[in-house]
Amino acid sequence: MNRMEIISVAAESYRTSEAFKSLRTNIQFSGTDIKCILVTSCMQDEGKSFISIELAKSLSEIGKKVIVVDADMRNSETIKRYKIESQNPVGLSQYLTNQASFENVLFKTQYENLHIVLSGIFPPNPVELLCTEKFKEFLVKCRQEYDYVIVDTPPLGVVIDAAVIAQNCDGAVLVIAAEKIKYRLALSVKKQLAKSNCKIIGAIMNYTDSKGFIKKKYEYGYYRHHSGDGRGSVFSIFRRKKPENTDNIKTEEDKV
Ligand SMILES: Nc1ncnc2c1ncn2[C@@H]1O[C@H](COP(=O)(O)OP(=O)(O)O)[C@@H](O)[C@H]1O
Ligand SMILES: [Mg+2]
Repeated sequence: MNRMEIISVAAESYRTSEAFKSLRTNIQFSGTDIKCILVTSCMQDEGKSFISIELAKSLSEIGKKVIVVDADMRNSETIKRYKIESQNPVGLSQYLTNQASFENVLFKTQYENLHIVLSGIFPPNPVELLCTEKFKEFLVKCRQEYDYVIVDTPPLGVVIDAAVIAQNCDGAVLVIAAEKIKYRLALSVKKQLAKSNCKIIGAIMNYTDSKGFIKKKYEYGYYRHHSGDGRGSVFSIFRRKKPENTDNIKTEEDKV
């Protein structure tokens, strides 16, 4: 199998791993039928890819076999974050156009039980590819071989891809960058996601700081209306001014 090394911005900080342990626990409690999880957001750079990888790492630490599928075929940055030990790496877009086999697109990582599928080169018709039987079959194969399938997607406030992908997932989490995303935009993206009949597991508030933490009560009420059936969860992944200082990342979990 191909191999790559994930270069993690979160390193092995205690607080970060605690943050993702809380998230992991909540995912586990969201039901045994929740196996294929979509991660989306309103806009670019809200932390979807970061959260997808860290969540997957956290699940793999407890012995779960996890695969992260980078389904952002339009604008994936993730290939730059990996040290890939393959001359000509292929990904999802090549698989969906019959240019690569399932085995060809699987990458092992330095974390046992954590595999990755890259997005592949930008195809002219990403939505069409995501609507195919081939994509459905791809996720079925992933489900058969892994305990969790985490699907990292493009921002739903910008392109429709995540809503199409959601039709084949069991649950979705909406990443929201604190103080960046307007209430109305978050609401319209949540509505769009709900149309796909995929359960909205909850929202993850990213880039919050200690100020955001104090405003917790407000966030609590704010998101209650956003968590689908009222049983979703809100997490805050804290980051203070210097993101490179991973000691500053911590989390607070609220059951809604
Ligand atoms: N909580 C966080 N702590 C530290 N760095 C973060 C955090 N969330 C995101 N980042 C960093 O911010 C940048 C944008 O995040 P990314 O996951 O690529 O966003 P998206 O996939 O939504 O476009 C990346 O460099 C990522 O590593
Ligand atoms: Mg991304």
